[in-house]
Amino acid sequence: MSDVIVGVDIGTTKVSTVIGKTNSTGEIEILGKGIESCSGIKKGIIVDIDATSSSIQSAVKKAEAQAEVKVVSAYVNISGLHVDIINHKTYTNIMNDNKEISRHDVEKLLYSAGTISISEDSEIIDVVPRQFIVDGYDGINDPVGMKGTKLEGDFDVVIGKIISVRNIVRSMEKAGIRVDGLIAEGFTAGECILLPDEKDMGVILIDVGGGTTEVSVYKEEKLVMNKCIPVGGDHITNDLSIALKMTYSESEKIKRQFQLALTALIKNDQEISVSDLSESFKKNIKVSDAIEVIEARVYEIFSLCREMVNANCPGSYGAGVVLSGNGIAPLDGAMQLAYDVFDIPVRVAVPKVKNINTLEYCTAAGMVKYIARLDKEGSTISIKSLPKTNRKTRDKTFLKKALSALKEFFY
Ligand SMILES: Nc1ncnc2c1ncn2[C@@H]1O[C@H](COP(=O)(O)OP(=O)(O)OP(=O)(O)O)[C@@H](O)[C@H]1O
Ligand SMILES: [Mg+2]
Repeated sequence: MSDVIVGVDIGTTKVSTVIGKTNSTGEIEILGKGIESCSGIKKGIIVDIDATSSSIQSAVKKAEAQAEVKVVSAYVNISGLHVDIINHKTYTNIMNDNKEISRHDVEKLLYSAGTISISEDSEIIDVVPRQFIVDGYDGINDPVGMKGTKLEGDFDVVIGKIISVRNIVRSMEKAGIRVDGLIAEGFTAGECILLPDEKDMGVILIDVGGGTTEVSVYKEEKLVMNKCIPVGGDHITNDLSIALKMTYSESEKIKRQFQLALTALIKNDQEISVSDLSESFKKNIKVSDAIEVIEARVYEIFSLCREMVNANCPGSYGAGVVLSGNGIAPLDGAMQLAYDVFDIPVRVAVPKVKNINTLEYCTAAGMVKYIARLDKEGSTISIKSLPKTNRKTRDKTFLKKALSALKEFFY
């Protein structure tokens, strides 16, 4: 399965797996997908490795059956809750006589970006180039072969909490799957959803899941912010349960039945019969009682997202806001609320990968597409494979390559 790429998305509420393969024209072909609910994660953190690994195993098995391949290793996402992406710039002088930039020069630069000091409970997961600058000329994706005297690199250094990284890797390994690499959600979130023009113009992608909301902001085709708020669709259900004194499952049922986030859109404000929290009696509530609660939480989540964008990367986002994830996107009126908060155009994400028809597979399919794209571009580095990978193209992992480059440099 050398050219098969597998993406596993460990979400708060479910694990989804997508198996893809690059075809002869270099396009990604989805071979199989599988999903399984997951109870091993609370507030975006793995609290039960056994439960998580059994969900992984089941989701992978379903995808394997469809794809008719055996999965031995996969890429896995790591949510913005557990990673920090730090922008870091560094440079090197081109020392050779003909002043031609070699792969070796690029690797040296990458390694030096990967040696920034970080806190003891963290580790560097990845170093992703944003751009290279040769003698002041910026916007260069691959400087190898160019002539110059000074090579500058503008990198995203991805730093993960050691405990979260270990729990993810343990859960995957317990499921019998080796980890090819951990990918911060921000790098892949848009792959399956956004158009290149949107990323170029500037776009805010808001993925509201069950327990988290991932905000990824792109401008000039690059990721400029990826942050996570520990609030998601499950909080909406919880609010309903507390405000209207209903059981959690009754609240979830009501939320999915009306799929509404805006009281102004209620057509018939009828009374509905629901189970009380005590489950000992039925009572009537008005539809508007429930939708008011949902509206308040959805508005709050969008406001938190806007504050985050304003604080970290203020500016204009011509392509507007794109809503993804199942936590809010399926609710009617969500687009209007987002528009009220952001005052720019809003749309709901539609997967644009063949055979991916629903939002729950977008994160996993995004990983597959992202890795396929890096392979196609023959990217110098990106993903640091944690355990040894079986993929020929990654035989030389980032760290191995970088270390050998550094050794040659210093010794
Ligand atoms: N049809 C629906 N209508 C309304 N809400 C829904 C619907 N289907 C799922 N949800 C809600 O979507 C949320 C789960 O979304 P999603 O599958 O995107 O999360 P996740 O990827 O598991 O979690 P996270 O991204 O936070 O780690 C839950 O809160 C669930 O109640
Ligand atoms: Mg998710």
